[in-house]
Amino acid sequence: MALVWTAELDTGIELIDQQHRKIVDYINQLEEVDRSGDRAGVGKVLHELLDYTISHFAFEENLQEEAGYRFAKPHRKVHELFTRRAKEYVANFEAGQDVTEEVHGMLSAWLVNHIKRDDADYVGAVKENMQHIIKEKERKGRGWLSRFFR
Ligand SMILES: [Fe+2]
Repeated sequence: MALVWTAELDTGIELIDQQHRKIVDYINQLEEVDRSGDRAGVGKVLHELLDYTISHFAFEENLQEEAGYRFAKPHRKVHELFTRRAKEYVANFEAGQDVTEEVHGMLSAWLVNHIKRDDADYVGAVKENMQHIIKEKERKGRGWLSRFFR
């Protein structure tokens, strides 16, 4: 069944939400291409999905570290465990196994859970940090402007 985006998956950080939506699209694509029986197509989507997810994780981890999020380390661990599992699935697929249904089920459940619980938890810290950075820039900007108009 296609994974449908619902408001409760929104974290409120636009870039993160865009990336999560893209992952959901990949998961749905995986199901579609599997239904058409195109094995090479499944392999292509699997690889794209894995690559995209890994770079999304790195993006999240950077945001969390910059914000000094207190659970940045355990969050990174969760990402690592997931990545290891996903790579195993891809290896099994390449060894000729039919893993698509299992991967699809695991991905859908894991992602929804992870976004709602783990990702929702870091949003506060990251948003606060973003606002701090914006304020700093404004403050510096004013400093420069005030010198200009002196
Ligand atoms: Fe995450």
